[in-house]
Amino acid sequence: MKAIAVVGAQWGDEGKGKVVDYLAGSFDYSARYGGGHNAGHTVIIDGHRFVLQLIPCGILRPGKKAIIGAGVVVDPAALVAEVDNIAKGGVDVNGRLFLSNRAHLIFPFHRELEKSAEAARGPHRIGTTSRGIGPAYEDKMARCGLRVCDLMDMERFERKLERVIEEKDALSRSCYAKGLDTAGILETYRELGGRIRGFVADTSAVVNRALGEGKSILFEGAQGTMLDIDHGTYPYVTSSSAIAGGACTGLGVAPTKVTGVIGVTKAYTTRVGGGPFPTEMPDLDAQAVRDRGKEYGAVTGRPRRCGWLDLMMLRYAVQINGIDSLVVTKLDVFDTQKDIQVCVGYKYNGSKLNEMPAEVEVLAEVTPEYRTLPGWQQQTDHIRAAADLPKAASDYLKFISDSLGAEIGMISTGPERDATIVPPGTKLASWL
Ligand code: GDP
Ligand code: IMO
Ligand code: MG
Repeated sequence: MKAIAVVGAQWGDEGKGKVVDYLAGSFDYSARYGGGHNAGHTVIIDGHRFVLQLIPCGILRPGKKAIIGAGVVVDPAALVAEVDNIAKGGVDVNGRLFLSNRAHLIFPFHRELEKSAEAARGPHRIGTTSRGIGPAYEDKMARCGLRVCDLMDMERFERKLERVIEEKDALSRSCYAKGLDTAGILETYRELGGRIRGFVADTSAVVNRALGEGKSILFEGAQGTMLDIDHGTYPYVTSSSAIAGGACTGLGVAPTKVTGVIGVTKAYTTRVGGGPFPTEMPDLDAQAVRDRGKEYGAVTGRPRRCGWLDLMMLRYAVQINGIDSLVVTKLDVFDTQKDIQVCVGYKYNGSKLNEMPAEVEVLAEVTPEYRTLPGWQQQTDHIRAAADLPKAASDYLKFISDSLGAEIGMISTGPERDATIVPPGTKLASWL
């Protein structure tokens, strides 16, 4: 039995899509357990670029199966658009995609309410992806959400929607002085329900049956540890459990079934949206990394904030997720870098911090302690064996691995599937 979680160790966009696509060739299933179409996972195969938001990247591997679990919030319009979009790229999901009947639905009013909430926050806005993710999770927790199973019975759906709409309509009238188009929503969702019906399943049963039969599953994390609702830089986080533990709750699979955890980090750090970022680079340096790393949001196109690698944060991510093996992506972005800084710890009010602070106000004020390591100033994107990496690049990776007490099981030196190095003898190599 092989059940491995792949999680973002930073603030998302670590390259999880590329990593899952690479690994998925060795697994029967890939499964998303949280978030929604706020995620944007890029996979480049033979020059063709796919950006997957809801469907696990394993779907791009012929014959492999993909699951969207109960912990995911689903905008059916986004799902249908994604199915149609990847079909254009020659990928047929029929018979291979399973959508949880327990997953909560996102409605147009969730997006509207999010827009007004963000506007009201002014300079303290979270900088969300405006997909209605937060409000949909709010309704789920408030126990007034509608789920995929409801959409499968239009009579029930209409009854439940009417109850919810009454409240949302009052909110909408006070925020926008306009009511909701209940009939329009019903009509649109009736049609969308028909389009997704063929995918709907009890996905917890699918996962557990598969594991019982000795099949292998890759849990595809969305977002990243520092965006986790409980353990991230609250309130500048997303509204779901992005950490490895989220795979259990989001898919209905027991912790005893998870056999390993892979944490993905870039060779540096990025963040989209608001919130503290201790190792953020000054504008000019950040722009250079942004240009080389093409650091613009896969979903929103927003420029990503760029900074140095933060080992204080990664140590926290290793602990919270129980990371067995690290993947370092985008090493090639540093190919022209003369000196590389790495944050090894934080100081606050002159004292060294031993734990990641809970308060964003403190995190915004910490002074990162840096070590400077030499760059390699050589191209690495063609390298396929760890032994062929320039010495300074190997030293950089060893410094990361030693500082965190975790192996580096994979190194990515380019966006394409084959720009990947898997050193032999690691735990990660044994899972392939
Ligand atoms: P995800 O959300 O974690 O899946 O990451 P994104 O897809 O949002 O962002 C990662 C970006 O980096 C994508 O554009 C990838 O194609 C790209 N990428 C992934 N790995 C590498 C790498 O090793 N080198 C370079 N240059 N680009 C990479
Ligand atoms: P992937 O899976 C990077 C960020 C948003 C915002 C905050 C809350 O591609 O790594 P939300 O719309 O979720 O309520 O926004 O979280 N965010 C991400 N940042 N990568 C993601 O996903 C993200 N998903 C959400 O920018 O700061
Ligand atoms: Mg992304």
